[in-house]
Amino acid sequence: MSLPIVVAPSLLAADFARLGEEVQSVAAAGADWLHLDVMDGHFVPNISFGPAVIAALRRHTAMPFDTHLMIAPADPYLEAFAKAGSQHIAVHPEASPHLHRTLQAIRALGCKAGVVLNPATPIEAISWALDLCDIIMVMTVNPGFGGQGFLESQLPKIAALRTLIDGTGRDIRLQIDGGVTPVTARRVIEAGADTLVAGTAVFGAPDRAAAIAALRGAAS
Ligand code: DX5
Ligand code: ZN
Repeated sequence: MSLPIVVAPSLLAADFARLGEEVQSVAAAGADWLHLDVMDGHFVPNISFGPAVIAALRRHTAMPFDTHLMIAPADPYLEAFAKAGSQHIAVHPEASPHLHRTLQAIRALGCKAGVVLNPATPIEAISWALDLCDIIMVMTVNPGFGGQGFLESQLPKIAALRTLIDGTGRDIRLQIDGGVTPVTARRVIEAGADTLVAGTAVFGAPDRAAAIAALRGAAS
């Protein structure tokens, strides 16, 4: 199964003093989703923003909000992130000990449910919850910061997930987060990914429309 490539700029690399304009800028540049990295300074060693900021941004665009929770615990905050306007909510298995229940809760809130695998997290962490996954995200950096180098070690994991997803017969998106550039985008798409998160490569580019087009066309 091959889905059209989705490009999801990560707001973490935007100018935080001008967030509304930054969101409109990447929407106009052709972004498909807006990736929102929520960090608590506990699950990851950085703090970003929470539901109030996401709710304020909701008025600035119709793009789907792809919310990546790097917080522990995650369960008490799912409803707040859904109400803030998230279409997708993704959690790390390490932050949600009852992952199956968490994914059920995300879907019950009307959102697509995502799971995120850290570089050292095996595929087996999610293999018995695949029926509840709409998006599987592979971290190709350690979570917490933008602008890090792509971890080559994750390519076999992406390929293995492609096989696993194809076996389900469902349109589960295979998303990559961290160090995505046109060069690494090509490699992850060849390994089977269909959804690209990119912070620095989009917000740091002089021409954001060209940057998004370069990522989308990386494999062709
Ligand atoms: C890291 C975040 C990423 C980050 C990606 O914890 O999950 O979404 O913003 O940034 P780049 O694309 O700069 O590696
Ligand atoms: Zn992210």
